[in-house]
Amino acid sequence: MVSKEKYVVKKICCIGAGYVGGPSMAVMAEKCLDINITVVDISEERIKRWNDKNIDNLPVYEPELAEIILQRRNKNLFFTTNIKDSIKEADMIFISVNTPTKLEGFGAGFASDLTWVESSVREIAKYANGHTIIIEKSTVPVKTAKIIKTLLNSNKSEDSNCERTFSVLSSPEFLAEGSAIKDLRFPDRILIGGDDLDGIESLKILYKKWIPEEKILVTNLWSSELSKLVANAFLAQRISSINSISALCEVTGAKVNEISNSIGTDNRIGSKFLKPGPAFGGSCFQKDLLNLVYLCRYYGLEEVANYWENIITLNNWQRKRISKLIVEKLFNTVSLKKIVILGFSYKPNTNDTRESAAIYICQDLISNGAKLLIHDPQVSPIQIEEDLGIRQSNNIHDERKGSWMFIEDIKNAANQSDAIVILTEWEFYRQLDWRSITNIMRKPSWIFDSRSVLKPEDKKNTQVNYWEIGQGYDI
Ligand code: NAD
Ligand code: UGA
Repeated sequence: MVSKEKYVVKKICCIGAGYVGGPSMAVMAEKCLDINITVVDISEERIKRWNDKNIDNLPVYEPELAEIILQRRNKNLFFTTNIKDSIKEADMIFISVNTPTKLEGFGAGFASDLTWVESSVREIAKYANGHTIIIEKSTVPVKTAKIIKTLLNSNKSEDSNCERTFSVLSSPEFLAEGSAIKDLRFPDRILIGGDDLDGIESLKILYKKWIPEEKILVTNLWSSELSKLVANAFLAQRISSINSISALCEVTGAKVNEISNSIGTDNRIGSKFLKPGPAFGGSCFQKDLLNLVYLCRYYGLEEVANYWENIITLNNWQRKRISKLIVEKLFNTVSLKKIVILGFSYKPNTNDTRESAAIYICQDLISNGAKLLIHDPQVSPIQIEEDLGIRQSNNIHDERKGSWMFIEDIKNAANQSDAIVILTEWEFYRQLDWRSITNIMRKPSWIFDSRSVLKPEDKKNTQVNYWEIGQGYDI
């Protein structure tokens, strides 16, 4: 049952136990000890892993997450597949389900697929009881709240005697993976969009338990929904901008890190998000840009759509550029060459591989006949197999075609290898004994450092060729 008292929230349900639902509710539970929080999911396997006694088996890896789960799980934080009861009992429901790019039908390849948002809302409409505040935490196209309201108002409760009302708010999530717990504990801002002042106040009361009030911004629904897409578009734009300049540096003798440093000291530009790489990955930048492009086209703004679409074009080009240059430097053939890949996640400190540049670059190298030895401290071989769509080989030496194997011992893998390609800047890779690794490679050997991991002293007095992203040489 739900409290009728204005503003008071005692029970929260979060639909979606993924990279957002899990960590965001863990921090909410840590900061709101008087509130019971239930995270629900349709995936039994995911829920089983959130409840696993072996804390190393959580479905999401984030620094400091396991500690919070150990402290709050089964106290005021619960994970279950019992969606019906959790919705019934909740005063407030966060929708944190996936909103991927549509693969088929109208808008395929651009628009957001709202199947999972809609199914969550239909469940809420069926089981909610009394007054329920519903919060869109998933990233959605602008105007989705209107669809949610229509779905709620046109569907009856399964209990015909129950009276219920809804308040629909938007409060998008801005956490970045790998730093999710820090971002949730100390966010730059919290955005709340809506027109129901009581609902907004209830949510504000929760956030004010650990976030200064001046960081809680209130807007109308559409500004809040659109701000999320625009924030990701601006961040992605900076990466494509610096990646484009990395290519120009390489042919002119300029150095991209010096450029980032010099432009970043201009307060108006700022120093963040100016690191070049093998292309941005992650589940959101590309999908949110595509969605923005779709919305612009939908509203007839073709030039605006084209402008934002170019950021994705540049990102795809950057990945391909790196695959091609690896092949070129290795005498235009990688066939049967042994190449060690360091890093498969799309950024460090996460086990997430969605849209990781490593997937595309590894596929390119395998299709050119390379034998890859892939290492990542958090990504499992099963995940890599799924991402590459190519089975792991038992023994790459026996294969007469491109293949891959997961490795744990980097030094052993480097022995007689032709190249090492660094794709994710895990801190662990900076600490490797690069001198002894490079000594045992087959000559002439190459290191391709797409994340500027190696320090100048790592490269001194070795007989290896280096390519570092955005590093031009005097020509
Ligand atoms: P995810 O795929 O990791 O998790 C979504 C979960 O929702 C899945 O476990 C899925 O089984 C579950 N689900 C789907 N429909 C359901 C239903 N009807 N009932 C119960 N469970 C259901 O996705 P994510 O990375 O957590 O992203 C969620 C949303 O948050 C997306 O809109 C994304 O754009 C946005 N977002 C993601 C991040 C991020 O860093 N991953 C950051 C900010 C915003
Ligand atoms: C990004 C945003 O930073 C979050 O604010 C947002 O909430 C989230 O998307 C989302 O909506 O999902 P995330 O994708 O987890 O977070 O990670 P980022 O740190 O933004 O990195 C994204 C990609 O850009 C990574 O592949 C990273 O390696 C790359 N990147 C980032 C660079 O190549 N250079 C940089 O300077 C920064």
